[in-house]
Amino acid sequence: MIKLNNNFYENISLIENPDDLLVLVNKNHKLYEDFIPNNLEMINLNYAVGKKFLRSDAKASFEKLCEDAKKIGYDIKAESTYRDYDYQEKLYSNYVKEYGKDYADKCSARPGHSEHQTGLAVDVRGSVSDYNDFEKTKEFIWMRDNAYQYGFILRYPKNKEHITGFKYEPWHYRYIGEYAKDVYQKKLTLEEYLKTR
Ligand code: DAL
Ligand code: ZN
Repeated sequence: MIKLNNNFYENISLIENPDDLLVLVNKNHKLYEDFIPNNLEMINLNYAVGKKFLRSDAKASFEKLCEDAKKIGYDIKAESTYRDYDYQEKLYSNYVKEYGKDYADKCSARPGHSEHQTGLAVDVRGSVSDYNDFEKTKEFIWMRDNAYQYGFILRYPKNKEHITGFKYEPWHYRYIGEYAKDVYQKKLTLEEYLKTR
């Protein structure tokens, strides 16, 4: 059962369907430590910053998105994609060291709680490299309005922190395939959408 408005990081359920396209990974739904998607593929280097991997369905769709965006003058690349449990642990603990636990928990998922571990999430960059400036770019506007056509949703929208548990992240997109259109049109978070199903 999908939980909504739970207390974050309390009553955590272990995820039983980590390969599902609609898998919910958040502060109350945790992936097991050694979960690795079995169909990771490397993104075409024209559309990624170095060697980056996504699940094959997400990878194919992301490349198409980048290709179409490029045709009309938008430069979109994958900056961070699949991350394993150990890497997420390092990222999270670096955040804690640098900013303290309260702030770290708003920005970085604890290990097992990041949907980057599913191979279905991608942090993108546009014509500037700093994530904090992505929102100001034309690439962001295009992604916001068009990503759903390629099966991607803006996973951590503005003013939905109380539901997602994370600060607004204009750069983080999650692949959910054919369901993305509905989520986009109804302006829902993945948590809210799954509740309606
Ligand atoms: N920044 C997102 C929430 C993550 O760490 O997965
Ligand atoms: Zn991300």
